Amino acid sequence: NETNYILAIESSCDDTSAAVLRNNNVLSNVVASQKIHEEYGGVVPELASRAHQQNIVPVINQALAKANIDKKQLSAIAFTRGPGLMGSLLVGTSFAKSMALGLNIPLIEVNHMQAHILAHFIQDKDMAPPKFPFLALTISGGHTQILKVSDYFEMQVLGQTLDDAVGEAFDKSAKILGLPYPGGPLVDTYAKDGNPLAFEFPIPKVNDLNFSFSGLKTSILYFVQRKTKENPNFIAENLADICAAIQHTIVTIIMRKLKKSVKLTGIKTVAIGGGVSANSGIRKAILDAETNLGWKVHIPKFEYCTDNAAMIGIVGYLKFKKRLFAEQDVTAKARYTF
Ligand code: KG4
Ligand code: ZN
Repeated sequence: NETNYILAIESSCDDTSAAVLRNNNVLSNVVASQKIHEEYGGVVPELASRAHQQNIVPVINQALAKANIDKKQLSAIAFTRGPGLMGSLLVGTSFAKSMALGLNIPLIEVNHMQAHILAHFIQDKDMAPPKFPFLALTISGGHTQILKVSDYFEMQVLGQTLDDAVGEAFDKSAKILGLPYPGGPLVDTYAKDGNPLAFEFPIPKVNDLNFSFSGLKTSILYFVQRKTKENPNFIAENLADICAAIQHTIVTIIMRKLKKSVKLTGIKTVAIGGGVSANSGIRKAILDAETNLGWKVHIPKFEYCTDNAAMIGIVGYLKFKKRLFAEQDVTAKARYTF
């Protein structure tokens, strides 16, 4: 049994992250979040690339130091090839290529969305990984998909969003309410004190296992505009209830599609991943399904839900074992489906 040390680099959006893994064990996982985007109400790609450029060396050095590993001990370097913002991906990709070249060790390219799913295979003393085949729900600021996962690298998309991602639905709703970016976690926080049935928003009718969230955003906008005309303090006076109702609607949409997927495939093992799986409403609904519907559910640790390099590292480790290495001329891919 060989011991491998993998350095993983994630720079697909607005978090610069580096992790060191010893086989499937995370020794360090450093994340530098970029505050700069808050004042713009969303990620500004040009600013994100510049911040990655500034962060990448200190973040990698911290990850190596925390793991107590010298770079000469590394077996391979894994990096996020895509999907994501091109300028952001280029920083991590170029850095990983240069470092692997300098150290003369293999380079491993990783699909970010696959990493959100395979994060479940990071060794954890409290949790066993999901058993194949399982259903994966990936919900983030950029993606919303339900997949059938038959093996580590055998995944089939069963359904996905036709427009906005779930995270966008949260963030755009929050923006309408005047909350700062990213508003998803704030909606979650305010929702805790609200009545989910205080207001009702329409559930979109979408075929098959696909999703649509752009209509929800529009109906929230019109609702808020109408109510604010009647009472200029409407948002401030009802923030908790509005957030609870929005969250309830989103959770309902997701759970209906998940239940449909379980019915269609007969697979009752469900693993969630992506930044929005940090949402307490979704966590609760999925745990309820475990209790009431006999599902086996897998929810990653909080730090492995939002963007992080540890999840890139576990894919790196799984690929390393199969000797699935990338060539030195590998390029970043803003749109990277699998
Ligand atoms: O996976 P992630 O960190 O980055 C992407 O790959 O997009 O996901 C970020 C998204 C953002 O839209 C953020 O608002 C949302 O996840 N998010 C949440 C919560 N925590 C993060 N949305 C709702 N409730 C939360 N607790
Ligand atoms: Zn992500």
